[in-house]
Amino acid sequence: MPILTIESTCDETAAAIIDSELRVLASCIATQEKLHEKYLGVVPEIAARAHVERIIPVLEATLNSAKISGAQLTAIAVANTPGLANSLLVGLVAAKTLAWVWQKPLIAVNHLDAHVYACQIAAQKSVFPCVGLVVSGGHTHLFHYRGPLERQLLGGTIDDAAGEAFDKVANLLGLGFPGGPAVAKLAAHGNDRKFDFPKSFQREPRLDFSFSGLKTAVRYAVYGHAGRVDPAHPLPGVHLPDVAASFERAVCEILVDKSFQAIRQTGTKRLCVGGGVAANRHLRDLLTQRANQEQVELHIAPPELCTDNAVMGAIAWEHCRAGQFATLNLDIVPGLMR
Ligand code: KG4
Ligand code: ZN
Repeated sequence: MPILTIESTCDETAAAIIDSELRVLASCIATQEKLHEKYLGVVPEIAARAHVERIIPVLEATLNSAKISGAQLTAIAVANTPGLANSLLVGLVAAKTLAWVWQKPLIAVNHLDAHVYACQIAAQKSVFPCVGLVVSGGHTHLFHYRGPLERQLLGGTIDDAAGEAFDKVANLLGLGFPGGPAVAKLAAHGNDRKFDFPKSFQREPRLDFSFSGLKTAVRYAVYGHAGRVDPAHPLPGVHLPDVAASFERAVCEILVDKSFQAIRQTGTKRLCVGGGVAANRHLRDLLTQRANQEQVELHIAPPELCTDNAVMGAIAWEHCRAGQFATLNLDIVPGLMR
């Protein structure tokens, strides 16, 4: 009997039904991009209210599409951490209600573990132990996974997440939201060697990231230093596709270098990559090249499982097999994971 998974950590309301062989019987995602684009970022209160409106239609569509009734489920799983507090609450309340009404076990899923587990769903075989790189709008973290539920934090961003940097640079370049795909599109027409943007912690053993200096360097490249040039107009002669391409190269090189540093430090020969930024073509190519050079087994979540979805909540099967069930006292653990 399959598991129903619910995802509402940020601005996607999603549900899926997945069987014990990790086959997807149904998956439904209601995105909110249109609601947030005029603010150039996710507005937490708008996101939470939109989840409230969408959660029941999404659940109904998912159950109908799989032709499954509540009685036929093994458990109800929900991502309860990390994320936006009120967004998480909507998914959690829905999951608890269904678990109580249908008298089914409840399973708590960690959204970051789920992003890495997307690799296992795609591979249809175990991808653990591994180094896991999660690159999303809220997180840029490296973990050492001994098993799917055994995670040790190796390092992470000390300021912006990689996706956040893409979104802010998109804003700076006058592109829309979400910024990642827009920057990547513009970058395709640019010279990625035109600017040599800074790459933090590159010569240090620490497995941390910082993208705020890079973001500022992009601002200076486009508008000049504060106080010198009109910040509303790009400097004459600046070709924005070159800025986008050089920025994208810098972010991708930072992510790839640190991931392979983590591979060397842990002695693990397998790398799994998930999260919205992992949909980036340049990052995927660079990771693949380096993995071939260094003979590392590489798994990158397929693009449709990179951005937020409920299919990756299939990690609930690991909790189920480990006998890890939650009670109806389960709470959200919002915020970022550090
Ligand atoms: O994993 P995700 O859907 O949500 C979070 O858990 O945060 O990631 C969303 C992030 C956004 O910042 C978006 O700009 C970025 O992933 N993103 C990309 C691409 N597609 C999405 N960044 C770079 N290149 C892309 N193709
Ligand atoms: Zn995510």
